[in-house]
Amino acid sequence: MPPCPRLPSLLFALATGAAFILAPSVFAADVERGKDIYEVCAACHGDLGQGGKRGEYPRLAGQRDTYLTNQLKAFRDRSRINLPMFPYTQERELSEADMEDLAAYLSGIELSSAYPVFKDTDDALTRLTAMEKVMIIPRAEGNTVAGATLYRDECQDCHDKTGRGRGRIPRLAGQYTSYLTKQMASFIRKERLHDEKTPGGVLNQLSEQNLKDIMAYITTLQ
Ligand code: HEC
Ligand code: HEC
Repeated sequence: MPPCPRLPSLLFALATGAAFILAPSVFAADVERGKDIYEVCAACHGDLGQGGKRGEYPRLAGQRDTYLTNQLKAFRDRSRINLPMFPYTQERELSEADMEDLAAYLSGIELSSAYPVFKDTDDALTRLTAMEKVMIIPRAEGNTVAGATLYRDECQDCHDKTGRGRGRIPRLAGQYTSYLTKQMASFIRKERLHDEKTPGGVLNQLSEQNLKDIMAYITTLQ
C-alpha cells in the first residue's frame, strides 16, 4: 500500500511544535474537497501552500479566497500567462467549483508566525524546510522608513495597513519578495493588469529604489 502522502508533513509539523494551524472554516465540506484537489498542486506550491524554491513558486497559504479564484480563472483564460500552470487550470482538469474549493482550503491555512525551535542535531536541510513552513520571510534590503511612507501613501488603501489585502485584493505580507518583485515588473511591462486608478498606473510612477523600499517595508509586516 502506498504511504499516505500527507502523513510525514503532519508528523513533521507536530514534531516542530505545530508549524501551522488550520482556521475553523477548514472543516466545511468544500474545504475538504479543496484539500484533496490540492494534492496535484503541492509538488510545486508545497504541502501546506507555503510555496518553494525561494519564491519561484509563490506562497498560497493565507492568500485571499476571491483573489485565488480570480487568478486560477486568469491562468485558464490566459489573461495572466503562466506556462507551468496552464495545463492544470484547463476546464477538464479544474472546474470552477474546484477552483472555489481550492481557494477556500488555501485561504484558511494559517502558517505559524513563530520561529521554529531547532535541536543542535538538526541539519541544514531540516532547518531550511522548517523555515519555509512559517510565515516569516527574510528581511529584504532597502530603506524601511521610506518604504513605510510610500506604502501608506500609495498601496495601503487597497492592500490594507496590515498588508493582508481585502476582498479580491491580494495579501502581500508573508509573500516571497522575489515573487512580488517579479509581479511588479510584469505589471510595469503591462503583461499583467494591476488595478490602476491613475493613468499609467501607480507602479509606473515609482522608481526602482521606491519599489525596493516598499518591498523592504512589507517584510516587516508579518
Ligand atoms: C509545475 C508547477 C506548478 C504546479 C503543479 C502548480 N503551480 Fe501554481 N504557480 C506556479 C508558478 C511558477 C507560479 C508563479 C507564476 C508567476 O510567476 O507569475 C504559480 C502561481 C500560482 C498562483 C498565483 C499566486 C498569486 O499570488 O498570484 C495561484 C493561485 C496558483 N499558482 C495556484 C495553483 C493551484 C491551485 C495548483 C493546483 C491545481 C497549482 N497552482 C499548481 C507553478 C505551479
Ligand atoms: C487601487 C487599488 C490598488 C493599489 C493602490 C495598489 N494595488 Fe497592488 N493590486 C491590486 C489588485 C486588485 C491586485 C490583483 C490584480 C489581479 O487580480 O490580478 C494587486 C496585485 C498586486 C501584486 C501582485 C500580488 C501577487 O500575489 O501576485 C503586487 C506585488 C502589488 N499589487 C503591489 C502593489 C504595491 C507595491 C502598491 C503600492 C505602490 C500597490 N500594489 C497598490 C490593487 C491595488
